[in-house]
Amino acid sequence: MPRVVYVNGRYVPYRSATVHVDDRAYTFADGVYEVVLIAGGELVDEGPHLDRLDRSLRELRIKAPMSRQALRAVLREVIRQNRVRDGLVYLQMSRAVAPRDHPFPADPTTQFVAWAKTLAPQPRAFAEDGVRTITLPDNRWGRCDIKSTALLPNVLAKQAAREAGAYEALFVDKDGFITEGSSTNAWIITPAGELVTRATDPGILAGITRRTVAALAREEGLKLVERKFSVAEAKAAREAFITSASSLVLPVTQIDDQVIGNGKPGSATSRLRQRYIRYMDGKGGA
Ligand code: PDD
Repeated sequence: MPRVVYVNGRYVPYRSATVHVDDRAYTFADGVYEVVLIAGGELVDEGPHLDRLDRSLRELRIKAPMSRQALRAVLREVIRQNRVRDGLVYLQMSRAVAPRDHPFPADPTTQFVAWAKTLAPQPRAFAEDGVRTITLPDNRWGRCDIKSTALLPNVLAKQAAREAGAYEALFVDKDGFITEGSSTNAWIITPAGELVTRATDPGILAGITRRTVAALAREEGLKLVERKFSVAEAKAAREAFITSASSLVLPVTQIDDQVIGNGKPGSATSRLRQRYIRYMDGKGGA
């Protein structure tokens, strides 16, 4: 739990960090957010995260509440006031507080909240044994490239995963291709050794971890192919993993009832995970 939260210009104790009932993120999910990893007190891939935030705001025609320089200062201050070395910063911007009416209000003032919290290290079993996933129909809207706070299908999918004893739910589009996880990007390594992840399109979020892992994979000499892959192909894969700011690079050892590979995290996945951890420890703030 954070101790201090930034709410529209003020740093307030967590227990009194409240927003108005007419905040449009509350009534309409009319807002965007970012989650940025903090490693050793530094933001990991801050620039790309803030670029994606700008893009989400632009796509929804929400005004940025402040300059990037001022925003960076707020993020540093919430990290400092929450005394976080390893954790996450969350930031959310909503269109306005305005009487409930669907069209945009005439003169909106963007609402901005941010907090940071410490995260416990992932359980060792995650890296050693991998995690289980389930598949579910992708019932989200057509603009999953926008990091909006409208996450109800993602919430229901994650809950279904938890109830099935799994870590993540993988969404499947109407043609049988995996799009992404409920809060992660999905990857496989084929029996021929190709590293495959879906190309960025409106059907998935362009993950910042995905972007960094793609670059690290190329450095590792892996052959990266950005294309769609089906559930059947994923279940027959040699290795599988998911990526996100909070999950890092996480081996997937089961999809529905199908064990992946020999049921243990694959060697390429484990190598990429190590590379990513070195990157985040060394390159935080890049
Ligand atoms: N989720 N896809 C979805 C739907 C996501 O919500 C996320 C991130 C990702 C991975 O993006 P990145 O690598 O930039 O974290 C992919 C964050 C962590 C969340 O909602 O908590």
